[in-house]
Amino acid sequence: MNKLNIAIDGPAGAGKSTIAKHVSEHLGILYLDTGAMYRAMALKAIRSGIDPNDKDSVEKLLPKTDIDIRYLNGKQHVILDGEDVSDSLRTPEISKGASDIAVIPSVRIKMVEKQREIASKYDTVIDGRDIGSYVLPNADFKFYVTATVKVRAERRMSELSAAGNLGNRTFENVYDELISRDKTDSTREFAPLIKPPDSILIDTTDLCVSEAVRLVLEYIKSH
Ligand code: DC
Repeated sequence: MNKLNIAIDGPAGAGKSTIAKHVSEHLGILYLDTGAMYRAMALKAIRSGIDPNDKDSVEKLLPKTDIDIRYLNGKQHVILDGEDVSDSLRTPEISKGASDIAVIPSVRIKMVEKQREIASKYDTVIDGRDIGSYVLPNADFKFYVTATVKVRAERRMSELSAAGNLGNRTFENVYDELISRDKTDSTREFAPLIKPPDSILIDTTDLCVSEAVRLVLEYIKSH
């Protein structure tokens, strides 16, 4: 039987993962954070002394890398070569590395294979950059979540600060990093970040989490 797949795409800091998590909890289905998979691949490269932009070296590393997704009490864990790295993926260095490594088509193909496998087995809310446009073009629902760069940078700043990952970054640094990541994600050749034409736009600039979640759930229930 076909599974329910809800795709949520959008740029960094728009609130995708928070919305996706709430929607999945509300519907009692799985949440798959695909960004965490690219982050794990970036972590592997960095730990191996490889620049995530170095396509040839990353491609050599790829067959020696195992990235698995497990769920414990409904929470996603990312297992890199047998090690649970879920708590090591949220630093600015890994954010940039993930965006850079995600440009490499062979990396994407490997990640997408696993994402499609999970989506075919379970009812899932999946967030990322290319879910509605490339990974699951036939998803039951597609949402594109965005917000102004200023608001996204403010949210990223609070997240980094709360997690103790801000270091000595200023607001301007965080803002510039976000713009640079948006550019890398939306200008890459293979499966770039786009708004799928058949997706529903959710602009969270002036919305709190519960309002955005309500919009998504209302849309799903009325269709
Ligand atoms: O959603 P995130 O910030 O954790 O994603 C980190 C990076 O991974 C993002 O900048 C680009 C890449 N990514 C991607 O290319 N495709 C996805 N479906 C998810 C993330």
